[in-house]
Amino acid sequence: MSLPVMPTRILLVGSGGREHALAWRLAREPGVNLVVVAPGNAAIAAEPHVRCVPDADPLDGDSLVALARAEAVELAVIGPEAPLAAGAADALVAAGVPTFGPSRAAARIETSKAFCHEVATAAGVRMARAAAFTSLEPARAFAARLATERNGGVVVKADGLAAGKGVTVCDTLDEADAALAALFAGQATTTVVVEERLYGREASLIALCDGRDAFGLPAARDHKRLRDGDSGPNTGGMGAYSPIPDLSDELAAELIERVHRPILAELGRRRTPFRGALYAGLILTPEGPAVLECNARFGDPETQVLVPRLGIPLGPLLLAAAQDRLAAAVLPYRLDGPLLPTLPSAAVAIVAAAEGYPGAPRVGDPIAGLDEATAGGALVFHAGTRRDPDGTYRTGGGRVLAVVGQGADLAAARDAAERAIGRITFAGLQRRHDIAADVTPPARLPASRARAGTAAERTAAR
Ligand code: AMP
Ligand code: GLY
Repeated sequence: MSLPVMPTRILLVGSGGREHALAWRLAREPGVNLVVVAPGNAAIAAEPHVRCVPDADPLDGDSLVALARAEAVELAVIGPEAPLAAGAADALVAAGVPTFGPSRAAARIETSKAFCHEVATAAGVRMARAAAFTSLEPARAFAARLATERNGGVVVKADGLAAGKGVTVCDTLDEADAALAALFAGQATTTVVVEERLYGREASLIALCDGRDAFGLPAARDHKRLRDGDSGPNTGGMGAYSPIPDLSDELAAELIERVHRPILAELGRRRTPFRGALYAGLILTPEGPAVLECNARFGDPETQVLVPRLGIPLGPLLLAAAQDRLAAAVLPYRLDGPLLPTLPSAAVAIVAAAEGYPGAPRVGDPIAGLDEATAGGALVFHAGTRRDPDGTYRTGGGRVLAVVGQGADLAAARDAAERAIGRITFAGLQRRHDIAADVTPPARLPASRARAGTAAERTAAR
């Protein structure tokens, strides 16, 4: 049996909280000598065995290739979607660098919502009923028909990457009309997706993929709205927790088989194999889970709670995924399904955001209490901070940092996270006080509806 192959030098692309969590984990694993982060941030640079390259351009494939060569890395890991969409993985792979992160073509599963629907439909994966439009009137007519037939709301989405801002969830047809009018206004060529609105709690399920095989991390839940009680505007994510009691490991394993693997097979069939983290954004409806969106990368802030819970080294898994040998790499662990081994602990992340976020954030405010927050064992992952020469950290972006508490169960992890973030102060700090406070008792949801049943439904979704 082969021993895990640990990459000793790794290039990590990105600069946010997700990348801080990945760098923190990778740099601590046995055998890793150096994680080079392009561009990274000041707090990532302060981690042992990590070096940041602040002037690196994460969207410039050629310069990433040059950096990978100069640093003699054995693996490149791409964090955010923008470098994927810019072809960074294509450039690195063409230069012979094993890369965890899909090609631009495979990343369309995230960068085009219409493409995601097309692939899911071909793969028999249940998504909301939807259609894509390039002009206003047919889109309005479809929205009206959906709302009447389903007696519910509709959702209007810009087709391309919009950093979570291109989606309007509508209660009424008037709202849908207004959203459609706004998206088409003055745009000669734009694609808009109109979807049936589904109702239920959301969950994120992320699998490591090598083009053929998928192995899942435990399920996590993001909190996208700015304020307590899921009110206020949508954000990039104000907190996360894992595990989620209403999505059992058993159901997660079934979803990897019924969602991730069929999507991988379909992308393979189209000769655009997916190597990287395939993220399914799920909604747990009374009829069973459905997919709301796919992302081509690790979630943020989900990664901040998943990475501390992984029970085996991450580096060898990412390298194996990049080299199409994931099944062989997990063989020594004798898994009894498609989920990776997890520590029997819970993790809760609470994000501290700057004043003004998710609009234009106020930056430059000094941050106090960072040492006090970590003294009790919590992790602090920085997303938007800067460091003065004297070591003072200041706010430098919308989502400033995430504090992660861990414990034997969610209540203990939540207490740890609450205690730690309570130590951190800066002017205008915005945060939620109800992350993981709303945990419902375990519910058994039918998984069978994760595969779209009827031909009519599948045709309608085209
Ligand atoms: P997306 O970027 O497609 O994940 O959409 C962002 C958020 O909008 C999701 O996390 C959901 O909260 C909401 N959303 C998107 N599509 C739907 C839908 N079909 N039904 C209900 N909510 C949705
Ligand atoms: N947490 C949502 C995302 O990463 O897209």
